[in-house]
Amino acid sequence: MKEKVGETVERAVERHGTRPYRLLAVLREIQRECRHLPREALRIVADRFGLPVARVEGVVEFYSFLHTRPRGEYDIYFSDCVIDVFHGCESLMERLCDRLGIRPGQVRGDGRVSIATTSCTGLCDQGPALLVNGRSLPRLTSARIDAVAALIEQGVPLSGWPREWFQIDDRWQRRDRLLTTSWHPGTGLKPALRHGAGWMLEQLTVSGLRGRGGAGFPTALKWRYCQETAGDHYVVCNADEGEPGTFKDRELLKHRADAVFEGMTLAAFVTGARQGFLYLRGEYEWLVPQLTAVLRQRRRRGLLGRNICGRMDFHFEIEIVVGAGAYICGEESALLNSIEGVRATPRNRPPYPVACGLWGQPTVVNNVESFVAASFIAARGGDWFARVGTEKSRGTKLLSVSGDCARPGIYEVPFGISVAEVLDLCGAGETLGVQVGGPAGTFVAPDEYRRRIAYEDLGTGGSFMVFGAGRDLIDIVTRFVGFFAHESCGFCTPCRVGTALQKQLMEKIRRGWGTAGDLQELEQLGRWLEASHCGLGHTAHNPVRHTLARCPDRYQARLQALDFSPGFDLDAELETARRLTGRFGDRLSRI
Ligand SMILES: Cc1cc2nc3c(=O)[nH]c(=O)nc-3n(C[C@H](O)[C@H](O)[C@H](O)COP(=O)(O)O)c2cc1C
Ligand code: SF4
Ligand code: FES
Repeated sequence: MKEKVGETVERAVERHGTRPYRLLAVLREIQRECRHLPREALRIVADRFGLPVARVEGVVEFYSFLHTRPRGEYDIYFSDCVIDVFHGCESLMERLCDRLGIRPGQVRGDGRVSIATTSCTGLCDQGPALLVNGRSLPRLTSARIDAVAALIEQGVPLSGWPREWFQIDDRWQRRDRLLTTSWHPGTGLKPALRHGAGWMLEQLTVSGLRGRGGAGFPTALKWRYCQETAGDHYVVCNADEGEPGTFKDRELLKHRADAVFEGMTLAAFVTGARQGFLYLRGEYEWLVPQLTAVLRQRRRRGLLGRNICGRMDFHFEIEIVVGAGAYICGEESALLNSIEGVRATPRNRPPYPVACGLWGQPTVVNNVESFVAASFIAARGGDWFARVGTEKSRGTKLLSVSGDCARPGIYEVPFGISVAEVLDLCGAGETLGVQVGGPAGTFVAPDEYRRRIAYEDLGTGGSFMVFGAGRDLIDIVTRFVGFFAHESCGFCTPCRVGTALQKQLMEKIRRGWGTAGDLQELEQLGRWLEASHCGLGHTAHNPVRHTLARCPDRYQARLQALDFSPGFDLDAELETARRLTGRFGDRLSRI
């Protein structure tokens, strides 16, 4: 056994090397082979990377897709995001568990299969979905689940499963300039090289491009600040796409990868960077072969590597780093730590990455869509880009529309479009509300549907979740706060404890055990969470804050909704409530 582990590690190390940014790749490969990361493997990895074992263990502990105990031969994760739950994901998971004689969270006794949940598979336009050994299986139905169970029992390898099961559909529902304008490799780079870095910055300024990852920082300023800071510059593309309900970067990487890499190369040209990284969320590992092929083509065309476009002074390379299941890695400073091969806890900011990023050097970090936009701006000019949009939000935005509507998918819309117009486009019927910008974003109630998608009003990384009129708002909010509790990296107390308490309180209210005092406690928690270290904690109270302000009656109704109908088991409910609420147990025991 020890020998086999040793050989596996050596093979992984030989394939990926021992640079810090290859640590995750080595760990993922060992896990694939051994179905977990044995202690012996971590010891050898630490030795080869020249790191203390405790540091490698710390990294492994951080990621939900890395395990120190064996997983099943078929390692399955069902998405438990609210949209997939709408579409029946929970009952499908139960069905598979029943068929295979296993409970969620367990590994079956014979080691054949393990089943667990994950926060998001990035497929809620074509859910319910699961991941099996890292591969995505969308569009699940009961019949498919039964077929999956049979294949697992027969021990058929994934290569023998029907290929069409793994097909990720393209759901382009509305296209605008980024998706309709033709793209040829080099069409952005060539004018930029001809006119110079100053011209490129000028075009970005004229375009008014603001970061598409959510915060909306002006891209021209970011690149200029980085350029003006002395050091060994880096360019990083944030393809972590963790905001629940967002999947537009997935499609851009599938269909506009060349423009993404060209945008990164433009940033390198402006800042003088020689190395770039594309940080891809682990759930999108299936995109790696095609991304690698695009990088290879660009090298062949002289658009990447040494002497780009024949310029003797312009060299730039791009590496792909694949994450391992941690939403916090989308936060740019956590992402940089992840690339550096350390635990991905967010850093203190300032200093910002433009001044002190990868390995302490000036670094541009941009979202996938921002890099695509930069490429088109170089090719077509800033004026062309700025022609649509609003005063402070120029251009178009890709929205990932999911939930209760006839046509979920990707909508490229001009900034300034109203929520009502998007609902019209996607064929939504009567609605309870819309969540714009993921759980950390804004809940928009029907009387606000005139509000606009724009940084001046509703800023978003792209998530647009539609909730039909029959949905249970309290259940949705409970799931959102559960997401934050699960994804809190645990580094700072306000967030680690605050998100857990918030989840407990919402669960209590959801079950009909809440009191008016609990609502006050929730509001207090919101203030407490503001003292968190990073954006995750700062925004973790938003789902409660927004819905409590807009729909207080829904909360009030739930506080009074004790169900004493026939079949209601008071003792069982009390026991569950005590377990869930812990510190409220004393109060409950007096009921
Ligand atoms: C908790 C958290 C998660 C984030 N996740 C993402 C993400 O998945 N993708 C992304 O581009 N930006 C994400 N961001 C924003 C990034 O920190 C950063 O602002 C962005 O990558 C900058 O690129 P842009 O200027 O092109 O938007 C996240 C921020 C926070 C606080
Ligand atoms: S706010 Fe949450 S996610 Fe951010 S550092 Fe603190 S514990 Fe980690
Ligand atoms: S898969 Fe639904 S939120 Fe990501």
